Amino acid sequence: GYDISKLLATTGNVTLDPGFVNTASCSSAITFIDGNAGVLQYRGYPIEQLASQATFLETSYLLIYGQLPTADELADFEHKVSDRMLLDERMRELYRMFPRGAHPMQVLSAGIMALGAFNRDNLDPHDDAQVEEATLRLIGSMPTLAAYAYKSSVGEPFMYPQKKLSYVENYLRLSFGTPVAEYEIDPAVVKAFETLFILHADHEQNCSTATVRMVGSSDANIYASMSAGVNALSGPLHGGANQAVLEMLVKLREDGLDAKTFMNQVKDKKSGVKLMGFGHRVYKNYDPRARIIKSHVDELLRNSSKSNALLDLALELEDTALSDEYFIERKLYPNVDFYTGLIYEAMGFPANYFTALFALGRLPGWIAQWREEHADPKRKIGRPRQIYIGETERDYVPITER
Ligand code: ACO
Repeated sequence: GYDISKLLATTGNVTLDPGFVNTASCSSAITFIDGNAGVLQYRGYPIEQLASQATFLETSYLLIYGQLPTADELADFEHKVSDRMLLDERMRELYRMFPRGAHPMQVLSAGIMALGAFNRDNLDPHDDAQVEEATLRLIGSMPTLAAYAYKSSVGEPFMYPQKKLSYVENYLRLSFGTPVAEYEIDPAVVKAFETLFILHADHEQNCSTATVRMVGSSDANIYASMSAGVNALSGPLHGGANQAVLEMLVKLREDGLDAKTFMNQVKDKKSGVKLMGFGHRVYKNYDPRARIIKSHVDELLRNSSKSNALLDLALELEDTALSDEYFIERKLYPNVDFYTGLIYEAMGFPANYFTALFALGRLPGWIAQWREEHADPKRKIGRPRQIYIGETERDYVPITER
């Protein structure tokens, strides 16, 4: 019913592309994905090699500075990050203020904004030294912020980071240690988290990264952009899917629903039920991150009978999907979130905390993308156009005559 020539006359010749299915919002030299071949590379390095050989901080350095660090560069980076793990003592009050049931992603987003407020001398996006300080401050503080979000959700006292521990070791101790019971570091768990964080570290222009760039494009400070990234990630169609997958598996088991009946619900579009952890905008072949996680899942769940039962159900759902026309036709495969929740659960995290772990892994990617955006002299504020489809001009009617 719209007069297209009139629309074009007022809007100009613009492209309507809901969901940015065909629209590139930037050029980038950080992450390469070939969705048809199932390829993911950070700065040219295959994700499989980084996941098996690098550490998370080494990968963070690579994403942010563009090259793998030398041993000295990495030691310097680790040292600077470690120096910034301790939060201003007054930030604890912020965490104490949240109600027990607050979602950890809400608390984390607020924590990052508060971190910016406590670091007012590194908010200028045009000052390289300030951006560098904010980069180190954010990476250093994120494990503490994320662990405190967990601690406040379970009502346990906060721990302080320790200089002698690595980044991931500190994070696990901040989460699971208590003043009365020292956390025993298990190298297998540390290695698992190094790998999981590397797998999440960047994924080019997904919803949260595009949000980080959009907010950054207004010259909002880097903390505001990262907090916005956390908010975008929290949705169940994005990072929130790891929580949704576990809740789906638990509910299926509680309801005693078998995989086939559930799949029939998923295929019935009217039901509104989705197989969470399946499908991806870019991967039309197996998500390489899901493949790596799946290869470790057995070994990581060996001590958890509850997670093992859920894993059996997940494997059954995957098998059913991979031989079902509905999923084959639409090229729907497990994505990174399909198996992560099972691992996080086996390690003792509650389901509503899983997405905060995703955010911890994704932070260096968001920072790298924000810095790349700001280094581009031709960058512009993000300002999409629209196609107006509302009322044509009409006269105001006084309230007494409506
Ligand atoms: N279960 C059932 N059907 C699905 C699923 C699913 N998980 N995913 C896609 N489909 C169907 C759609 O209904 C659509 O069917 P149609 O062509 O008959 O209408 C078709 O497959 C294409 O899907 P779209 O939604 O158009 O794909 P899009 O690229 O817009 O969405 C998304 C991708 C959001 C990931 C989607 O697959 C989804 O909702 N998956 C479940 C949530 C999830 O796991 N999200 C995590 C993604 S990875 C990440 O963010 C880290």
